[in-house]
Amino acid sequence: MKKRIGIFTSGGDAPGMNAAIRACVRAGLNNGDEMFGIYNGYKGLIDDQIQPLVRNSVSEIINRGGTILGTARLPEFSKIELQQRACEILKKHNIDSLIGIGGDGTYMGLAALSKLGIKTVGLPGTIDNDIASTDYTIGFDTALNTVVDCVDKLRDTSSSHQRCSIVEVMGNRCGDLAAYAGLACGAELVITNETKITREDVINFLKEQRRSGKQHAIVVISEKVTNIEELANEIEAKTGFEARAEKLGHMQRGGTPSPLDRVLASKLGNYAIELIDNNISCVCAGIVENKLKYYNIYDALKLPRKSTLELVKVASNIG
Ligand code: F6P
Repeated sequence: MKKRIGIFTSGGDAPGMNAAIRACVRAGLNNGDEMFGIYNGYKGLIDDQIQPLVRNSVSEIINRGGTILGTARLPEFSKIELQQRACEILKKHNIDSLIGIGGDGTYMGLAALSKLGIKTVGLPGTIDNDIASTDYTIGFDTALNTVVDCVDKLRDTSSSHQRCSIVEVMGNRCGDLAAYAGLACGAELVITNETKITREDVINFLKEQRRSGKQHAIVVISEKVTNIEELANEIEAKTGFEARAEKLGHMQRGGTPSPLDRVLASKLGNYAIELIDNNISCVCAGIVENKLKYYNIYDALKLPRKSTLELVKVASNIG
């Protein structure tokens, strides 16, 4: 039976979300489904911000960063009243199925809506790569390229001035961006939520590096681990390195999606339609060992977090 499918993006935007939207819309229309865009995440859903999407609605977006549907964070969507309101809106439009692109928060909302009778599929869209049910999330590869580009640039100036650069990267308590970027950039140290490296370890390591004639150093650190301004001050006071703290911030979420992200997003978008058209619901899709795979959302949310400690060990001199 043909479906009426709503699609939305939620949580932090990620490069490649547009490629996923495009793939869903085109695959759905090819199968005879009707497609609807829900604007600005769950917030837009409960405010009835819904428009039909046709082939042309998703033309020339595969290469664009951000999300043409807009996004928002709405933690309050855990409340049953808001979920019921969302269902009423969807019923008003005769929308029976939903594809949500985002992270774990998006998946929780979808699971709640599936209990209320809506068919739901989640796709992993976040630069953090912090979703256990997929090896890679849409947006991670692009963000990694952005971080590597920035750190390479910092290295030029940092080495010219014989400084230590402390670079804070995003990740929302997941160390993947820091570990992959640290390894790719040849950082001296990588610090994440998982590493047990103390301030004292960092100072001692850098002091030793300085003593042995090292001219400059790069420390890549995940956000939410420590105050990097304070760390830079302490490094400057105690190690002999002049130090600078750099937060890469939201620029990590922008930019044109990498070819790998476009390909991943397109495969997952097609797969989401295949799942819905086969009446598979309350699931999230991912890429696991290079194969498309889906999990029940509740099972997916219980999966243990992937650890990046092994990678950090390869990337970092201590840890
Ligand atoms: O989830 C993506 C992310 O960029 C995280 O890395 C970061 O912690 C968070 O979003 C920032 O959120 P906001 O854009 O709401 O400040």
